[in-house]
Amino acid sequence: MDTSLHVAGKVMVVTGATRGIGRAVAEAFYSRGAHVAMIARNESRGVRVQQEILEAYPDVPGTCRFYPCSVSDSRAVERTCCDILSDFGHADVLVLNAGIEVKPSSIADTEIEDWKTLMSVNVDGAFYVIKHLIGSMEARGSGSIIFISSVSTLSGGGTGMHYPASKAALQGMMARINYDLLPKGIRANMISPGLVDTPLLRRKYPDTPETNASLNAQIPMGRIARPEDIAKIALFLASDLSGYVCGQNITADGGRSLYRRSVVST
Ligand SMILES: NC(=O)c1ccc[n+]([C@@H]2O[C@H](COP(=O)([O-])OP(=O)(O)OC[C@H]3O[C@@H](n4cnc5c(N)ncnc54)[C@H](OP(=O)(O)O)[C@@H]3O)[C@@H](O)[C@H]2O)c1
Repeated sequence: MDTSLHVAGKVMVVTGATRGIGRAVAEAFYSRGAHVAMIARNESRGVRVQQEILEAYPDVPGTCRFYPCSVSDSRAVERTCCDILSDFGHADVLVLNAGIEVKPSSIADTEIEDWKTLMSVNVDGAFYVIKHLIGSMEARGSGSIIFISSVSTLSGGGTGMHYPASKAALQGMMARINYDLLPKGIRANMISPGLVDTPLLRRKYPDTPETNASLNAQIPMGRIARPEDIAKIALFLASDLSGYVCGQNITADGGRSLYRRSVVST
């Protein structure tokens, strides 16, 4: 087992854990000995992913458990967090990853319901999970909270005004956690991915050689990110290696925002 990142034995909770970045995060932590609580809505997929992760690392001593829950449902989140605390005892690491896009729209044509739906997952959902697990971190005097934001907070990309606005709201949550809780041993940081090869991205950009060539051509490093690229940053931010790091927003976009080669919204 690779213990170089020192997450073995930590209890971590990841939202949006059954596909894309969240799944890669769950697997990266579990494979290094962490106890992993995975949250997402689709129960059959969640149970299958839990099983796949457990079977992939038969010698790992940790736990990996799926909890079906929509993060936009405050009561369901409260119940789920109670279950997690009852099963694991406490939480050391939160990765607030669950996020959605809604149908593309201009600012004027954005439907109020779409705005609310997106905010209810991307913003409210992160708050609900933090609200119900932060007490356990405070009680132990330690914790690392990691937000999955997006480079769209600066570029304005995404399917509409709601998406970058929701991701920027996470910055304020991070700031407040650090403002209130650094003296209590709890720190918060953020990861802002660019283009990552996940089902979310593939809904906009089909997995064809032509599309991939065009996406990769925009990235100075020559390729869009794999979910594992983002998971590795989460490992660092959760581990004691980053124990003196707080309030940072780590951009992971292969250099695209430094040297923009053409315009494609993220
Ligand atoms: N992919 C990119 O290029 C990219 C770039 C920048 C930032 N991001 C951000 O990275 C995060 C993960 O994105 P991704 O690309 O991995 O997305 P994805 O492939 O669509 O996976 C999303 C995950 O979130 C879960 N989920 C969706 N709605 C949920 C809800 N209401 N409650 C709980 N879980 C929910 C999904 O499972 P269920 O459907 O079963 O709930 C799934 O496990 C998002 O916050 C996204 O905004 C992605």
